[in-house]
Amino acid sequence: IERTLSIIKPDATRRNLTGKINAKFEDAGLRIVAQKRIHLSPAQAGKFYEVHKDRPFYGELVEFMASEPVVVQVLEGENAIAKNREVMGATNPANADAGTIRKEFALSVGENSVHGSDAPETAKEEIAFFFSGLELVG
Ligand code: GTP
Ligand code: MG
Repeated sequence: IERTLSIIKPDATRRNLTGKINAKFEDAGLRIVAQKRIHLSPAQAGKFYEVHKDRPFYGELVEFMASEPVVVQVLEGENAIAKNREVMGATNPANADAGTIRKEFALSVGENSVHGSDAPETAKEEIAFFFSGLELVG
């Protein structure tokens, strides 16, 4: 059994899509074992996305992620990392498959509604960034 870190981004929380997005995760067999709504500071968002600091869109990404509340959550299931990324769809909604979260809800490549960890090591780090062990209820 595997765990991954998911973020419902500001474009989605703003449009009251948290429940619809969570239904997609649960329908795919992913269990939400931790969840909280927070408003990231620019410094916190910058730290979370530090791996992208040299990319041209870094400033825009950090500003967006700190603009309004997000819902951070831990999803658990068989192959949770890959399964979550499948449910999310491609980064750019124009390239996302039908039925995926980004195809249905994302506004643009930047405002793309969800984040999901991309590998076991990053999942571990990203979960620890937001949650203590006591908050994970499997
Ligand atoms: P995450 O799950 O959010 O990490 O998405 P990803 O793994 O599909 O994409 P990637 O890690 O390459 O990029 C991280 C995030 O940066 C994306 O989800 C977008 O929100 C944002 N991003 C990526 N490319 C662009 C871009 O060209 N323009 C803008 N404004 N944002 C981008
Ligand atoms: Mg990524």
